[in-house]
Amino acid sequence: PVQLEPVPERDNPQVIAHRGASGHAPENTLAAADAAADLGIEWVEIDVQRTGDGELVVLHDTTLERTTDVEAIFPDRAPWRLTDFTADEIALLDAGSWFGEEYAGEPVPTLGDYLDRLTVNHQKLLLEIKSPELYPGIEADILEELSNEGWLPEAYPGRRLVVQSFSAASVRAVHEQAPEVKTGFIGSPPVAELDGYAQFADQINPRHTGLTADYVDRIQALRGPHGRPVEVMTWTVNDGERAVEVAGMGVDGIISDVPDRVREALGG
Ligand code: G3P
Ligand code: CA
Repeated sequence: PVQLEPVPERDNPQVIAHRGASGHAPENTLAAADAAADLGIEWVEIDVQRTGDGELVVLHDTTLERTTDVEAIFPDRAPWRLTDFTADEIALLDAGSWFGEEYAGEPVPTLGDYLDRLTVNHQKLLLEIKSPELYPGIEADILEELSNEGWLPEAYPGRRLVVQSFSAASVRAVHEQAPEVKTGFIGSPPVAELDGYAQFADQINPRHTGLTADYVDRIQALRGPHGRPVEVMTWTVNDGERAVEVAGMGVDGIISDVPDRVREALGG
């Protein structure tokens, strides 16, 4: 019989800064990582995609106009899809001014630059592969970058990296290509299908709306691909009372734009 490890006791949930501390600084910028660090938040969530010429960058939307000044810099390039731009062009954009003039000139970070900043800040990374269907092979590209930057753990469990996606195929690819990496599936699969996800995902990370204690229990009762209880990191909780509720359901992590507010609501 397989020897199972004991289920660990659960403390207060981990609090994770969503797109960095994106309630305090422009999302997915180095400034938002720094804002989280200034609040004492170790874990930072980001979204990673790929430029037309193959550079991995930190950006949520598949187009650039919401969070950069791309319309002013490249007025003739609508609909401003990331895939239609090179890394050199992306480097010209201002991803901070839309949030506040004090952030003018904040770039769209490359994944490499972002990893360097997290290392300086002693922070940990929940890396979402965003819209992987647009970027064939992005899983291998991300793993190579993580390896080059010294972020791949030698064995499971690593202590500072989780790679997650809404795409089960993408999470499965990461697990198969680098089994030592901790993985997460974003979503709320039907209870009857949770087993299948636990074959390749160490976490199942549901939206907080509609979340129940029973659903959290059912996930945590499963053993993930490494024989440990599957974890639950719920998103995106920006209300203190709701944070207390989901903490009461026993979630392992709460992802928030305002991690300071969540931490305070949970009593430090
Ligand atoms: O970490 C999960 C959460 O980030 C997913 O939603 O749209 O903010 O990427 P979204
Ligand atoms: Ca995300």
